[in-house]
Amino acid sequence: MLKNKHIVLGISGGIAAYKSATLVRLLVKRGAEVQVVMTPSGREFITPVTLSALTGKPVITEFFTANTGQWNSHVDLGLWADAMVIAPATACTIAKMATGVADNMLVTTYLSAKAPVFVAPAMDLDMIAHPSTVRNLRTLRSYGNHIIKPAEGELASHLIGKGRMEEPEEIVRVLERFFSSASDLKGKKVMITAGPTYERIDPVRFIGNFSSGKMGYALADEAAARGAEVTLVSGPVSITPSQPGVKVLNVESAREMHDTCQNLFPDTDIAIMCAAVADYAPAQVATHKIKRENQEVPVIELVKNPDIAASLGKIKRHGQMLVGFALETDNEQANAEDKIRRKNLDMIVLNSLRNPGTCFGTDRNKVSIITLDGACTEYPDKSKTEVAHDIIDAIVSRINK
Ligand code: C5P
Repeated sequence: MLKNKHIVLGISGGIAAYKSATLVRLLVKRGAEVQVVMTPSGREFITPVTLSALTGKPVITEFFTANTGQWNSHVDLGLWADAMVIAPATACTIAKMATGVADNMLVTTYLSAKAPVFVAPAMDLDMIAHPSTVRNLRTLRSYGNHIIKPAEGELASHLIGKGRMEEPEEIVRVLERFFSSASDLKGKKVMITAGPTYERIDPVRFIGNFSSGKMGYALADEAAARGAEVTLVSGPVSITPSQPGVKVLNVESAREMHDTCQNLFPDTDIAIMCAAVADYAPAQVATHKIKRENQEVPVIELVKNPDIAASLGKIKRHGQMLVGFALETDNEQANAEDKIRRKNLDMIVLNSLRNPGTCFGTDRNKVSIITLDGACTEYPDKSKTEVAHDIIDAIVSRINK
């Protein structure tokens, strides 16, 4: 898939630059031609000699090669590339890319690149969470760049958190996926529900749950990367999709999510119901904040919310595919199979609460995929990005049956 592909690898000055040598090695092993472009501070973290030995090409860091006076054309390089990967991308380089501060070869090449751009941020946990970085990454996404989300773990500062550059193997997988499956969902309309729902009690309180939306957003990114037209019907979450082109419709309550899905479903090929929908909502929403003083303990009467997946199952046409999720604590498989039938699903993704460190709120998940014909495939504990890849693979292979 990467054979003969021209990859420009931009390396900026972060400690994760030591991983760039492995990245180059993996790309070259797969037959890619790699041209490294480094920022001046990138050179402080890894020597150009290592990288040119691995790529078989001189590393470019300056507009001119000092000893020959040769002009290094960022425009030619930008046009030569089938993909540009910036790994590690520091906060500084990301900010320059977002605002067009073209004061080094890496950023000028980026501005000239016509090929898809992949950005693998690497920085400390506070830097990645800073509103400035968040805004700059959002800007890059709006330019159509692909952000390879940083992983969680121990950082160079010895702090634990988000900010580690994704491992070279995963970056290569992202590229392979991009080149191999860029079109296996082309022409398909995919609707995905994600996140929790909030059921209002009064103007300041609600009934909700711990769903972060990460699994649904990873599915939306994966489906979009594979060519689908994706609409994400999202409950309240604090994340955004990485893929450009994912349309997000924000909803709050189960009722709103239900109505939005009902409208969209007739024009949908594949619906994936990943949201953690509240089963009940307060029968009445108080118009004023419920006060504590002089009151007996309030009793909140609940009414049943609509089952969105089941309601879509009732109107599903031949050729449409409906995928559900199940979170079970016991009799997992039997309950999941029962749910497939009750909701008229084609496939169900079962996640278990038994696996510590996976599922709600985390970046990992361990799932089994059960299809209508009873076949069950168990997968190992993986990142949600990889799980999304497995789920979409399972859907694609079913469509192609
Ligand atoms: O019945 P249960 O909540 O276990 O079913 C889970 C599946 O049904 C998930 O796919 C979830 O998104 C969907 N669901 C729904 N509407 C509800 C409850 C669950 O779409 N009200």
